[in-house]
Amino acid sequence: MNLVQEGRRHTILLGGIGGDSHSVGLTILRHALHANGYQVRYLGIQNRLEEFFQLAGMCNVVMISSMDGHVRHYLREFGDLVRKYNANKSLWYLGGNLHTGDAQGYEQQFHEMGFNRAFVKFADIERVLEVLKRDLHDVEPVPAFPTLWEQAATRVSHLAASGSDDLMTTAQFERSRREALEGWKTGAGARLLEENAEFLSVQPSFPKAQALVNAGRAPILVQPRSGVPLVNEQIRLFKMFKSLNVKALSYQVDSLTRNNNYAGAEEAIRESFTTGVASMNGFPVINHGVGGLRQVISEVKVPLQTRHSTRDPRLLAEISYAGGVTAFEGGAICYNIPYYKDYPLDESIRMWQYVDHLTGTYYERFGIALDREFFGTLTATLIPPCLAIAINLIEGILAVKQGVKCLSLGYAEQGNRTQDIAAIRTLGEMGREIVDNLGYTDVQINTVFHQYMAAFPDDPTRASGLIFNSAVTAGLSGATRVIVKTPVEAYRIPSVEDNLDGISLVQRGVAMAAEETFDETRVQEEAALIRREVSAILDSVIHIGRGSIVAGVVNAFRKGFIDIPFAPSNYNLGEVMTARDVDGAVRFLSTGHMQFDRDLRDFHREKMNERRRAEGLLHDHQNYLLIERDVMQIARGQYESWPLSNGSPSANNLQTASLIHTFQNLEIPQGT
Ligand code: 5AD
Repeated sequence: MNLVQEGRRHTILLGGIGGDSHSVGLTILRHALHANGYQVRYLGIQNRLEEFFQLAGMCNVVMISSMDGHVRHYLREFGDLVRKYNANKSLWYLGGNLHTGDAQGYEQQFHEMGFNRAFVKFADIERVLEVLKRDLHDVEPVPAFPTLWEQAATRVSHLAASGSDDLMTTAQFERSRREALEGWKTGAGARLLEENAEFLSVQPSFPKAQALVNAGRAPILVQPRSGVPLVNEQIRLFKMFKSLNVKALSYQVDSLTRNNNYAGAEEAIRESFTTGVASMNGFPVINHGVGGLRQVISEVKVPLQTRHSTRDPRLLAEISYAGGVTAFEGGAICYNIPYYKDYPLDESIRMWQYVDHLTGTYYERFGIALDREFFGTLTATLIPPCLAIAINLIEGILAVKQGVKCLSLGYAEQGNRTQDIAAIRTLGEMGREIVDNLGYTDVQINTVFHQYMAAFPDDPTRASGLIFNSAVTAGLSGATRVIVKTPVEAYRIPSVEDNLDGISLVQRGVAMAAEETFDETRVQEEAALIRREVSAILDSVIHIGRGSIVAGVVNAFRKGFIDIPFAPSNYNLGEVMTARDVDGAVRFLSTGHMQFDRDLRDFHREKMNERRRAEGLLHDHQNYLLIERDVMQIARGQYESWPLSNGSPSANNLQTASLIHTFQNLEIPQGT
């Protein structure tokens, strides 16, 4: 501590390695190290091994995290690099998910490789901090090297935003279209819009299925997820879902395709075909091409959607629509900030304006309305409704300006029923108001309820309970659609049987909603709060963009007026912190640079202070402990029941809340 007072702090280099986008653990560790007096040099995710070596000499400890189970592959040059950089003066720590099995005895391998410490499976932060303190006990802090760091720091380009909110010109669209269709050999099959429209116009329509629900003429759509490498297998799955009365279907696109690696996907398809074992985590749409998709929809005859998170989505959208798909998920913010480290927003906006323009073109020229959905789930972890809603609305505005006529606005359940119902309602209402105010009164607005999207309980009984009760909330919220999880979410891609379990739980939960009640007054109060927050965010975007949404988005992210918790993007400031209040609702622990007025900031501070008192964590520098607890709570099963608070007028919420806390306190490791 004396060293800290003298301004001499130990320096820690922290970053992730490998293709994974998850940065929740890294984000918490970064806050925790900082709060404990370390100088943190943060590299974010997806670094090359050699980048750590280039900076290691200016640090006491290098901490590398790897989450995707391929760490041995990423570390294969570790020994050579240690020699090349003479890097054994720093302490090397490795952590994350270092082995996909139970990982007994794996520390030894990493020690032999040259790591001083290896945390093979999840380690709680207090343990890491203790080990670190011990290891650095008699280590002299390295000098601070501020200018060198400045030069080495990852530079994000902050040029003035290029691009405009306006309708793309035909010339811009045609130029981009040629480039997109040349992305892979199957692109040519999507070229003739007239021919595509002829096929598309007679396919089952996602917008129409949703319109029936919105008009009260059909129940909420229960939508399972699936995605397998081969066309016939995908058809088999879809037919199974159809036999369960499922009226809206989608496939998840595999991660090779999401990274625009179609050659890699081709190889993986071949392997899946010859071995009979699925070697991909989704359906490779681009490689199967227009013909493959048309075969699927012709046999299944249920409205279809493409779900993905692709960096350049243009070819995927082209092939999807040409193949008979009537709904396409994704947007410039929601499929960028939570997934990519180095994807400039003005670039992703251009990509998604293309997709929206293509979508609008099918309506304008052929009268075919296609659905565009936004992934309001974002990083899935402790996302306050206002951020999810603001992003949906911004992406919605950009879309209708390109001619889109059907919007699906998405939100992921957080676990407090009052807050979740209020979020879905406000999402739908504000969506309607905003497009109407812009003069697009003919645009259809749908809302999508994602069942809990963060780390899932690994106990299948708990997972099933969550899925069932979450479906009740979905039913009560009035959403157009609910996207289904399965009891095996924590382990694996669901099998047919797993999916059947999930669907049946959700169908029963949704039916149960008809008999449930909730406290309407509290929902209205929560909705009013969310509305104020969303308005504050949108005002700040409009203001800083001087009326332009594109410029507003780029600048708002740069200034932290919009700041998504736990996001890996360098274009996201990462100062906002969130946690649950005593009722399990997600609140701001820090609003960072978001432009909330004093009342709003006070509200959140009060809610968090109440929680802090309940947990006995009174100080700001203990924030990371609260966050860690909340991030892990559901996966560890440290909760009484789902939802965390059910918002029913008869329930004694205070009692429920204190039960939850007693339970949590039992689980807290000694010394916290
Ligand atoms: N099949 C079924 N579900 C999938 N998910 C992702 N890929 C697949 C697939 N191939 C689901 C998981 C994941 C969410 C984003 O989508 O539930 O958490």
